[in-house]
This record gives sequence, C-alpha cells and structure tokens, in this order.
Amino acid sequence: MTSDPSGPHPAIPTASDAAARKKGIPMTAMLAALSAATFLCGAAGLTIATAQDGSPATLPDLPAPRIQEPIIPLPQSIELDGRKVLLGRRLFTDSRLSSGNGLSCASCHQPALGMADGKPVSSGLPHYEGVVNTLTVLNVGFNTKFSWSGQTLSLEEQADKVIENKRTMGGRWETVLSDLSADSGLTTAFGRIYADGLTRKNVVDAIAEYEKSLVTPNAPFDRFLRGETDAIGEDAKAGYRIFKDYGCISCHQGVNVGGNMLQVFGIFGTPTSATDGANTAGAAQGSGIADDKPVFRVPSLRNVAQTAPYFHDGSARSLREAISMMAQYQLGREISDGDVSKIESFLDSLSGDPPLPPVN
Ligand code: HEC
Ligand code: HEC
Repeated sequence: MTSDPSGPHPAIPTASDAAARKKGIPMTAMLAALSAATFLCGAAGLTIATAQDGSPATLPDLPAPRIQEPIIPLPQSIELDGRKVLLGRRLFTDSRLSSGNGLSCASCHQPALGMADGKPVSSGLPHYEGVVNTLTVLNVGFNTKFSWSGQTLSLEEQADKVIENKRTMGGRWETVLSDLSADSGLTTAFGRIYADGLTRKNVVDAIAEYEKSLVTPNAPFDRFLRGETDAIGEDAKAGYRIFKDYGCISCHQGVNVGGNMLQVFGIFGTPTSATDGANTAGAAQGSGIADDKPVFRVPSLRNVAQTAPYFHDGSARSLREAISMMAQYQLGREISDGDVSKIESFLDSLSGDPPLPPVN
C-alpha cells in the first residue's frame, strides 16, 4: 500500500462528514453517489469500443486504484457503440434539430469553452430568454441526475425534452423528424445502425451515446489517485485535504466529483442569487428536501476551471469567488485567501484530456 499524503483511508466517513450529516446531508445520498461511481479502467488513453455489430466489447482486467478515496478516477476506456457515437456527434451539430431557430446543441455546448458557452446564463431564444447557466456535457454520462434541478433522470430523457424546450432548442419533434428524414444520407446512416431507422427514439439514443463518449481522462488528480504521487503539486494536495476536512467532499464526490445528489443552495444564509427561495430559476420543485429554499443538483467539479462563470445563474465570475461562497453558504465558515488558493489548485487538477474524436 502506498502512503497517502492526502489523509486517512478511506476518507469517508470523517469528522467533517459527521458534521455535515448533522447539517442534514443524508448519508444514503452520499452512499448512492459513491456506489454510482464504479467505472475503473486501466488501459492508456480513452478507448471507445467500435463493435460493428453493436455487441458489447469486453473491458480488460482492471488494476485496483492505488489510493482509496471518495473521488474515483474517470475510466480510460469505455464501452460504447462507435457507430452511434459518430452519428450522435453529427446530430449534435445539426441545426435542423431546432426547427428553423438556427441552433444546434453545439451552439451552447462548445468544445473551446469546456462544452459550455462561457455566459452567465444561456442566451435562449426570442421571447424565451435563458434563465440558467449552461451546464457542460463533458463526462455527463457519469451523472445520475441531470440539469440544475436534477429532475431529469437520464441522458435520453434530457435529449428528448431539450428539442422542444422553448428556452433551449425551441424545435418541434414532428418537424425535426420530417426535416431529418428528407436527408437520404442521414436515413441511410440510421438504417445501418437501427432496424427501425430514423425515429425519435433513435435520434435520442445516438445523441446520448455521443454524450457518453465525452470523457476527459487522465486529469492530474486522477493520475495521483492511480498512484502517481507527483502528478499534482503540494498546493493541490493541501487543497484536496482542505476540501475533505471542510466537508466539500460530502456533496462533491464520486467519479464526477458531484452530479449525483440534490442539495439546498444556502444551508447557512441566503446567497444573493437565491433570494427567490424555492422558486429560484432552475431549482428543483417538489423534491421534498426543503420547502422554502432552493434545491439544486450538486454540479460536477470535473474541468470546472474551464467553465466559468459559476452557479445556476452564473453569479460567481471566478472559481475563487465560487469557492468562498460555497464555504460561506454551504458550510458556514469564512475561508482564508490561502485556503481558497489551495482548493483552487486542487480543482485545477481535475481538468483532464479533451475527449478524442470518435474513430470509426
Ligand atoms: C441555447 C443554449 C443551449 C442549447 C442550444 C442546448 N443546450 Fe444543453 N444546456 C443548456 C442549459 C442552459 C443547460 C442547463 C439547463 C437546466 O438546468 O435547466 C443545459 C443542460 C444540458 C445537459 C445537462 C447536463 C448535466 O450535467 O445535467 C445536457 C445533457 C445537455 N444540455 C445536452 C444538450 C443537447 C443534447 C442539446 C441539443 C439537442 C442541447 N443541450 C442544446 C443550454 C443549451
Ligand atoms: C451541502 C452540499 C455542498 C457542499 C458542502 C459544497 N457544495 Fe459546492 N455546490 C453545491 C451545490 C448545490 C451547488 C450548485 C449551486 C448553484 O449553482 O445554485 C454547488 C456548486 C459549486 C461550484 C460551482 C460549480 C459550477 O459549475 O457552477 C463550485 C466550484 C463548488 N460548488 C465548490 C465547492 C467547494 C470548494 C466546497 C467546499 C468549500 C463546496 N462546493 C461545498 C453543493 C455543495
């Protein structure tokens, strides 16, 4: 067993988690987040299986992670149908999916901007302005709840709904299907993969398969977890220790360092961006967690350095600001500039290799 410079094994439950539980963070939610994070692989570079017959590819035997921590490295190989990934990528950049609004998924989920759009809130559409910050779709296949509200439970459900969302694509499925069906190249491509060809369900399926391929492996922190003790610097190690000691880890954990549970935003006091209480834009309604406060899905912190501005409304312009606000409103503590810098170094180390284009 290698020595672990970041703290005791395993890191949870810790005193800070016990404190967090007192503050109402259910242990079951934490465990659910952990058990959802079971993707461990060991080959070099992200590999996407391209089984031509759609049969599942087998993964190699995997070495155990060297350091047991509440954050799990992203896999380096992943089992997907490469043909669907390619088709999904094509659809992701196709503005016919917005029925004349000129928008594709890639208008807001841009590779150069961490698969988000860099704006405080998304621009939306005429008469239906955007009200929430665009979430990244990097590593989105490892979330178990989707959107700021966390009320969407699968990538397929999200893709199906977003086409007709008036603030997002503003399309109509009927029109989308007739427009796409008029493209013989596309109908042929669907026919090669799906027995029933180009259908709403299959459009959704291909988009979701592409989204699952958007994995960013080999972040310095993941390499550190796999035993490369020099992969991150002393500041990042100290930052990770603080992240655990303060209790950030009780919400941001698992393979995506978040993405798996709902929590109140503003456990200690009301952030200025959440003054509408439970009616704050983007918040979950009727989640049963809190009646008077806004409840959000805890976002993933992977590649977070690339996706400013932060929070559901983009109100934190920098990562430093977001870290301080989290300490204040989620954990009820003032945090020194030095500790903010260390946590920032740790969060920086969560940026991995950009997803490789799929190979046929
Ligand atoms: C006008 C900008 C815009 C367009 C176009 C757009 N999105 Fe998004 N996307 C957003 C915003 C804003 C959110 C957060 C929405 C929310 O929480 O209510 C989001 C969230 C998502 C999420 C959830 C991510 C997570 O971590 O939960 C997925 C997946 C996604 N979009 C996929 C798509 C797909 C697929 C398309 C095209 C069919 C698309 N988006 C088109 C702005 C956009
Ligand atoms: C009680 C659960 C909880 C704890 C503890 C917590 N967070 Fe969060 N975190 C959230 C939620 C919920 C959000 C989304 C808030 C919003 O946008 O409305 C969030 C958002 C963030 C964001 C912005 C992500 C983005 O993409 O916009 C960062 C950065 C962050 N947290 C870091 C931290 C750090 C650092 C700590 C410890 C100091 C911490 N969090 C503690 C629940 C938590």
